[in-house]
Amino acid sequence: MSKTAYPNLFKPLKVDGLRLKNRITMAPLYLGYAAPGGKVSPLMLAHYKLMAQSGAALIVVEGSGIIVNGSGSARTLRCDHNRYLKGLHGLAKAIKEEKALAALQINHAGRFAQVAEPVAPSAVPAFGATPHVLTRKEMKTIQKQYAKAALRVQRAGFDLVELHGGTGYLLAQFVSPRTNTRTDAYGGPIENRIRFPLEVLKGVKDLVGDFPVGYRFLADEWLPDGLHVEESRVLAKTLEENGVAYISVMGGTYESFFLPGVIKESRKPGYMVSLAEAIKREVKVPVITAGRISTPGLAESILREKKADLIGLARMLWVDPEWPRKARKGLDRSIIKCSPKCDACLQLVMQGKPAFCPRWKKGKRAEYKALFQ
Ligand SMILES: Cc1cc2nc3c(=O)[nH]c(=O)nc-3n(C[C@H](O)[C@H](O)[C@H](O)COP(=O)(O)O)c2cc1C
Ligand code: SF4
Repeated sequence: MSKTAYPNLFKPLKVDGLRLKNRITMAPLYLGYAAPGGKVSPLMLAHYKLMAQSGAALIVVEGSGIIVNGSGSARTLRCDHNRYLKGLHGLAKAIKEEKALAALQINHAGRFAQVAEPVAPSAVPAFGATPHVLTRKEMKTIQKQYAKAALRVQRAGFDLVELHGGTGYLLAQFVSPRTNTRTDAYGGPIENRIRFPLEVLKGVKDLVGDFPVGYRFLADEWLPDGLHVEESRVLAKTLEENGVAYISVMGGTYESFFLPGVIKESRKPGYMVSLAEAIKREVKVPVITAGRISTPGLAESILREKKADLIGLARMLWVDPEWPRKARKGLDRSIIKCSPKCDACLQLVMQGKPAFCPRWKKGKRAEYKALFQ
């Protein structure tokens, strides 16, 4: 290995039998690049190939829908039917050809789904719609859909699958005391509220065998009456006991991301590291931290101080796919930074448009637009 100023960042790590060549992972980033209807598009292939060429050890592909009624948007990638297998196979291959490990995140958006009749653990309105309360039978169906989707991820050739328990989507909706007011065995104390995500994990593991399963983890909703670390830590420990490959920690949901205090905090480098650190104290399984980790120096100090085991770069890698290579060569100053005051990518995808970054070099936007279907 060539010499680097960041020895911790470029130290390999074994994760559930897989060898990560360094500590850099791409955190999932939905950009609205899938073809309408959720198939892998040429733009998506080009985008993930570039992300894998960056030198990151693991690319976690954005959330893909496990059931059409749980889809975040018409351009959300889908893995709810065998007809998507061919495209997903091409996507996994494109990433792995560049010597990165490939993961696919699978998701049900629950009350945040952009569908006529969203479903959720309880009838807590979101974006003006009151979701249908899931029956036990419907929950069983969703559990099975998760397992079948995970099997497709395995069959498509990915190295691992990630369950999306973040951003306030369905799994997180069960865990949160705000969005889960059920009075059955799935509501009430935290031990009950984590029951459904654990059943989903079990269903997945039963079907995929020793295929690694990661978990995107909501540590704190950043809402006064929401989920906080005091409770989410219980889920972290239980996920570890139930064999997850890693826990990828994040904070916030669509109901807190735009609060003035949260916006202010999110502009700071490493704004979610303290959450990862709190969860890492509870578990031995590798913990990923993300959130404006804009410099290799910050990443190195997080690892050195054992606040997390792996670094997740989402916008940070997208804005400058050379981040890992520049870090290795000590060219930190030339890393193109995501502007703390910008939220263009988030605004664009929320309007159902594909995201392009104003910080890209001239010509790249046109190149991407030409590939957009
Ligand atoms: C436009 C956008 C799309 C995102 N899509 C996903 C997603 O599909 N799944 C997920 O777990 N997190 C998603 N995230 C959260 C990121 O993975 C990450 O936690 C967050 O952006 C902070 O890291 P960064 O500062 O490097 O971007 C998204 C964030 C943004 C801004
Ligand atoms: S500069 Fe703006 S568009 Fe580019 S990654 Fe950062 S927030 Fe997204």
